[in-house]
Amino acid sequence: MITRKKLSIIGAGNVGASAAHWAVNRGIADVAMIDVVEGVPQGKALDLMQSGPIDGFSVSLVGSNDFRDTADSDVVIIMAGLARKPGMGRKDLLSKNVAIVKSCTREVVKYSPECVLIVVTNPIDAMVYTAFKVSGFPRNRVIGMAGVLDSARYRTFLAQALGVAARDVSAMVMGIHGLKMLPLVRLANVAGVPVSDLLSEQELSEIVERTQYGGIEIVNHLKTGSAYFTPGLSAVEMAEAILTDSKRVLPCAAFLEGEFGISGCFLGVPAVLGAGGVERILEFELTQDEKAALLESEKVVREQMEATGL
Ligand code: 2OP
Repeated sequence: MITRKKLSIIGAGNVGASAAHWAVNRGIADVAMIDVVEGVPQGKALDLMQSGPIDGFSVSLVGSNDFRDTADSDVVIIMAGLARKPGMGRKDLLSKNVAIVKSCTREVVKYSPECVLIVVTNPIDAMVYTAFKVSGFPRNRVIGMAGVLDSARYRTFLAQALGVAARDVSAMVMGIHGLKMLPLVRLANVAGVPVSDLLSEQELSEIVERTQYGGIEIVNHLKTGSAYFTPGLSAVEMAEAILTDSKRVLPCAAFLEGEFGISGCFLGVPAVLGAGGVERILEFELTQDEKAALLESEKVVREQMEATGL
């Protein structure tokens, strides 16, 4: 008998529901969606399940308020927490979301002690550290989602400026999920052609800045919440790589132990994702400016880690 893999999504708000949508649409696993609010995960899951006959997926989806329904998950995405409002920095969210992520992690670990945890709750770099500490999992099984989203924004803006298909743009954002993130210009290319040969320094620096403010730009539009379609898909992209053991290379917040000269801190780096979670970090030579920018990221992440009290 073929048993399908299981994915649990903690949080049935906009990001959680969007992730569930992408996950069932891609058919990557049976999905359990959990939320504390009675009726919301049930209603959203039922609605989404009813798209099956039209969409053609055959995985199952349950919505529940009970963590027991997450039992024996292969991958669990934690996205429960408060979202940012205009004028609210990722840092303001920290103390409220630490409490939420702590309690969700404890519940998840109780029912799926062997799972890989992907953390999406903001501020991501501090929340993934919280889940890492509370779960006691090895570093390969606790990963933060940020780089896939930030890189997708970067690739979108580059593609728009170049007038090319976004999927042919290969570009990566490293470091923190915040204003000090590091969209790498030197390595960005379109089908192998360096973008620095195609766009001016001015154009590139505007794109880098727009990427750094990518989340805020959407918060300012929405006014009552933050982005959810691409955050949801970014987490599912990582989950799929793990569930299918595909060894995809995706930028993720991983706990560094000496890579890039940094230890004891989560930072966005290119990682090989497979059944073991982060199976390898692809370390490469940074220029002096890039290294300095990464250290700026590290500084802010460490301040956030400190603020978690863990
Ligand atoms: C984003 O970047 C809010 O962090 C979230 O869209």
